[in-house]
Amino acid sequence: MAWNPEVYNKFKSERFAPFYDLLALVHVKPGMEVIDLGCGTGELTRKLADTLPGSNVLGIDSSQEMLNDSKAFENEQVKFECRSIEEQLKSDKKWDLVFSNAAIQWVGNHEVLLPEIISKIRKNGQLLIQIPDQQQNISNKILNEMADEEPFKVILKDWKRTSPVLDIDSYAQIFFENGSKSMTVYEKIYPLILEDSNALFDWVSGTALIPYLEKLEGDYKQNFSDQYRILLKNKFPGSPVFYSFKRIILEATF
Ligand SMILES: C[S@@+](CC[C@H](N)C(=O)[O-])C[C@H]1O[C@@H](n2cnc3c(N)ncnc32)[C@H](O)[C@@H]1O
Repeated sequence: MAWNPEVYNKFKSERFAPFYDLLALVHVKPGMEVIDLGCGTGELTRKLADTLPGSNVLGIDSSQEMLNDSKAFENEQVKFECRSIEEQLKSDKKWDLVFSNAAIQWVGNHEVLLPEIISKIRKNGQLLIQIPDQQQNISNKILNEMADEEPFKVILKDWKRTSPVLDIDSYAQIFFENGSKSMTVYEKIYPLILEDSNALFDWVSGTALIPYLEKLEGDYKQNFSDQYRILLKNKFPGSPVFYSFKRIILEATF
């Protein structure tokens, strides 16, 4: 997927807020080996590392575009590598802390993925994940509805992005079944207060809109964007726009 760090970074403070909630749940211990799955530009990986003195942190991401600026966040404690989460999970290496902020919603089949991730956590280690609740967020629902209607249904060959995100009970159950010693699992609304629906369009264009535009060509790409803009305006006509962005926070020790 073609990620664009400039577009993604437009809403830094809104995107950073859940990261800080996740960070607050970290059990800080000296000398940990830590991995950040889907680290993006690396800015937050560095913030994570700065709170973990004496630990080594590896950030991996499949997007070279997102990683391009990550050199600036490297130091003797923090390194970055271009690698997919799926590829990383093939390695036998285990970690004291597996961290992932707003990334695993892009990897399929969480019933299989979560146990695989948990299998890479050392005894007494910790897992920390934050994901948007795509099943509940209206911005995702509108995209799916558009993909279900003509002309896009035919052009997209009946494709639409099916979110792998589960309900929070399912994640808690997976943790239990995979030997968790303790867990914190909750959903939280992160209020987005935006100037208007165009700003909401910009917010979504940094993430959920990308896979749709990637599958469309020529005029259809523009038409899809235009149509999405209109539907967002119909749903959020006023100014400012208040949007309840729902996210899932997952923490467990093993
Ligand atoms: C919304 S960004 C979050 C980036 C960073 N964790 C943050 O909080 O700023 C999602 C990131 O996940 C990465 N990503 C998506 N699918 C991935 C995969 N299968 N393997 C590795 N990284 C992936 C994307 O390249 C992107 O950088």
